[in-house]
Amino acid sequence: MVKATSPMEHRLSRRQFCLAMVTTAGLSAAACRAGDNPAPSPSPGEASSGATLAFPEGFHWGVATSAYQIEGAVTADGRGRSIWDTFCDRVGTIADGSSGEVACDHYNRWESDLDLMRTLEIGSYRFSIGWPRVLPEGLGRVNRRGLDFYDRLVDGLLARGISPLATLYHWDLPQALQDRGGWENRDSAEWFADYAEVIFSALGDRVDRWLTINEAKVIAQQGYQYGRMAPGMTDAKAAGTVIHHLNLAHGRAISRFRASASRGQIGPCLQLAPCYAADQSEGAAAAVRTADITENTLYLDPLLRRRYPDLSKIDRALAAGLESAVQEGDLTVIGAPVDFVGVNYYSPMVVDGQGQPVQSYPVTAAGWQQIYPQGLYDALTRIRREYNSPEVVITENGVPDDPTDSGQPTADSARVNFLRQHLEAVHRAIAEGTAISGYHAWSLLDNFEWFAGYSQRWGLVQVDFETLQRTPKASASWYSTVARSNKLPSE
Ligand code: FCB
Repeated sequence: MVKATSPMEHRLSRRQFCLAMVTTAGLSAAACRAGDNPAPSPSPGEASSGATLAFPEGFHWGVATSAYQIEGAVTADGRGRSIWDTFCDRVGTIADGSSGEVACDHYNRWESDLDLMRTLEIGSYRFSIGWPRVLPEGLGRVNRRGLDFYDRLVDGLLARGISPLATLYHWDLPQALQDRGGWENRDSAEWFADYAEVIFSALGDRVDRWLTINEAKVIAQQGYQYGRMAPGMTDAKAAGTVIHHLNLAHGRAISRFRASASRGQIGPCLQLAPCYAADQSEGAAAAVRTADITENTLYLDPLLRRRYPDLSKIDRALAAGLESAVQEGDLTVIGAPVDFVGVNYYSPMVVDGQGQPVQSYPVTAAGWQQIYPQGLYDALTRIRREYNSPEVVITENGVPDDPTDSGQPTADSARVNFLRQHLEAVHRAIAEGTAISGYHAWSLLDNFEWFAGYSQRWGLVQVDFETLQRTPKASASWYSTVARSNKLPSE
């Protein structure tokens, strides 16, 4: 880990004062709410006084995965190709030259993986449905064998008392749809809604909660603007168009869900990165406002306020691509009411006066991730303050193995620290009145980490990619204790 000094000024805040009121007493201090003024940020870990922190009754303790990252079996039972199969085939795209061809072989080992979750006392499982398994051509013909896999998975979860949280799209677009223009084609919103409807009619009677699209921001930025992920384009205008089509696809899926007989709840899955200034200059303050648009409000505002933020300061090509895609009535569709907001949080964004990202906090083996638990608190409480207090589910939060962590892959004390500090931030946000109903650690298993291949290990459970054997790490047993007791144990 690279240690760095914080650019933030730390003073004792009203939040920290409130925190002192909600330690072993659990969450009885809801009256002690922060006002609308952002308070200075306490350092990570400052919140912990070694006391036990209790979570609200019924809080969902979960783990998260996604189809392409764990399933493998890419040609089994009639699955079609996805854009990630194609992307991995291109030389130089994946750090270790690997792919999700075998991954964790979860497609064949799902039952023992579910048993493992049961043993770990996991209450909620976030998984994604592989669109090309169910609709190999992306639309039209349904591949029953592919659908049956998810049918069995959902039944298997319910039989073990684990609540299913299903993501409709976690980046594995059918290649056949990419061949028709993919998310740049406005029809993609309708393709997605049609696919969603197939899934709702098959599983809607049993799935408790649904997520529409995982991290539209990362798809647009990494897939279309910077080219590090599938489909590997470097075209800011296309990225802008794709943002709007992904938002529209989300909205159309919500309408189909409401029209279906499904019994559960549905929401988006947004990766939020609270933005901070690296110094006190006016330039840095302005850069923060711009970064906040591309990191957060391009997604939060249309979905939760039915409008886009002011685009005049962001990349001109991106803004042009987005604006040219918007048609009359779209924002009404996009802003359809949701039941909850899924939040993925990994890292803050710190920018200097030139708008350049700055590394101000410890950087993890992922390279792009800085450890700043206060950022999670800031993201959660902002949703409450600025977006009318919707229910929030934390749908991803985690860290890769720290290579300096003792050399023993299952003795992952850095991950335990990370989880503890972030859960303390969640606890504080709840104590101050933010409605948060669950937390999902990324990830259950070490898996195929996109362009990093298998070089980064994000699991609570270690996977030996030679033998595919699973071995729980120290963090798995720590997290299991938290889930069982509904409390953060004292250190
Ligand atoms: C998130 C992705 C997830 C995983 C983590 C580390 O952005 O949603 O699939 O790769 O990062």
